[in-house]
Amino acid sequence: MADGAAFPLGRMARLAVFASGRGSNLASLLRAFPPGGDEPLAAVRLVLSDRANAAALERAREAGVPAVHVPFGRDRVAFEARAEALLREHAIDLVCLAGFMRVLSASFVDTWLGRILNIHPSLLPAFRGLHAQRQALVADVRESGCTVHFVDAGVDTGRPIVQRRVPVLEGDDEDALAARILEQEHLAYPEAVRLVLRGEVAP
Ligand code: GRF
Repeated sequence: MADGAAFPLGRMARLAVFASGRGSNLASLLRAFPPGGDEPLAAVRLVLSDRANAAALERAREAGVPAVHVPFGRDRVAFEARAEALLREHAIDLVCLAGFMRVLSASFVDTWLGRILNIHPSLLPAFRGLHAQRQALVADVRESGCTVHFVDAGVDTGRPIVQRRVPVLEGDDEDALAARILEQEHLAYPEAVRLVLRGEVAP
């Protein structure tokens, strides 16, 4: 797992998705890489959430994927130890953060370097961090979008893999812009996972 083996694997990859909320990006990954193994490149095999009531956990259970709540509490060390154990137990090859609202430690990220991705609702490096859509509106830009990127020790700083663009329209509020970007997120994440698993992009 953390031994530096490169993609492509030469077999179906086992994906884990970490999500804190509604899980619409999880849903798009479940459609692209169903747990039943209809797609030879990869299948979602584990979903983990720091929130017990995350809709993402329910979506995963409905899809028949092991769905585990791992409380974050005040102790990131305990969370990461449990997460690491689950990733090992499920022989996970690639971790997809999808609306996962916690910052992982440099050591966790280092272990998974090149095998952990995130999606962010802006055209990085613009508008890192929280409320990216609001930041775009405040900055009065004409275009925004989403970025799937490799995760490194910074927040939203890793190498971009896929970006998809949308216009910012006159009269947009945060919800309208977020919805337009989200449609593109659902295309961008599976596309980025394919590129990584085929070994076409590395951090
Ligand atoms: C998405 O906009 C994602 O880019 C951001 O959090 C949101 C998660 O949405 N990181 P969902 O839970 O995947 O529906």
